[in-house]
Amino acid sequence: MIVVTGATGVIGRTLVGLLRGGRRPPPEVLAVVRRPAGDLGCPYTLADFERPESIGALLSPGDRLFLNSALWPGFADAHRAVIDLAARAGVAQIVAVSVRGAAPGGRLGTGMHGVVDAHLRRSGVPWTILQPSGFLQNLPHDFRDGVMHGSYGPGPVSYVDARDIAEVAASLLTRQVGPDAEHVLTGPQALSHDRIAEELTRELGRPFRYVDLPVPEMTAHLERQGTPHPLAADLAALMAETGDGRWSTTTTAVQEVTGRPPRSLSAFLREHRESFA
Ligand SMILES: NC(=O)c1ccc[n+]([C@@H]2O[C@H](COP(=O)([O-])OP(=O)(O)OC[C@H]3O[C@@H](n4cnc5c(N)ncnc54)[C@H](OP(=O)(O)O)[C@@H]3O)[C@@H](O)[C@H]2O)c1
Repeated sequence: MIVVTGATGVIGRTLVGLLRGGRRPPPEVLAVVRRPAGDLGCPYTLADFERPESIGALLSPGDRLFLNSALWPGFADAHRAVIDLAARAGVAQIVAVSVRGAAPGGRLGTGMHGVVDAHLRRSGVPWTILQPSGFLQNLPHDFRDGVMHGSYGPGPVSYVDARDIAEVAASLLTRQVGPDAEHVLTGPQALSHDRIAEELTRELGRPFRYVDLPVPEMTAHLERQGTPHPLAADLAALMAETGDGRWSTTTTAVQEVTGRPPRSLSAFLREHRESFA
């Protein structure tokens, strides 16, 4: 059985579709959801990371587990508890979504994921950690009203399409369990936010622009939009860290695992015109 947590999310929905649709016979899939999700088209059960035992109770020896949810303050404790329960249940493999540059002590999600990744490496369960850059799927929200504010500076960022993360996960969860591995997942190019705005303008035929702000001004901008302190300051600082060159390289991991190249920004824009309406 392949147990998919975060099944209603951007990655999870695509993953469930790939597992159910692409392989003959389709593997047995169980989606873990917080609310009824009949539209997923596969068996599902209600459970919550905030009650780790509700997920642990679903796991049996030999299962493959896709470990993913959203970030919240209890994220690291909850994910570590589910990893321990998976080890106890005899799970055959965990494929976990992390973030590029995850490290204990890192800012916000990088730190939380770093703690979980370290725990998973020591868990005794065969593991694969997926460390993606930012998702192309963020862009419609980031560029709402045609303008994106940020403190990335001029540094290029190698955004990845979340569907490629799902494709990597689907490959890993349906082949023989391989050696433990980490995959840094990126798109095929790294572009500055000015270049991304130019690409949006060209592909969508109307003006888009990126406004770069120093970290203190970006913090104030986020606070004016309702993000509380100190989260606003951390988010702005994280943008500046992300744009300092550490996400400027691309990798071949998507191609290596799935056998096909990652989706590009322009391909994403052609398919998601209506999301930028
Ligand atoms: N966005 C980015 O640019 C980016 C970049 C790198 C890494 N990441 C990482 O990617 C992951 C998120 O991936 P995604 O795109 O699939 O996120 P998403 O679209 O926000 O979906 C999150 C999924 O997790 C579920 N979930 C949230 N809290 C839960 C809980 N307490 N118990 C059970 N399920 C819970 C949600 O269920 P509901 O439908 O019930 O809410 C949803 O299915 C995060 O770990 C994030 O750090 C994101």
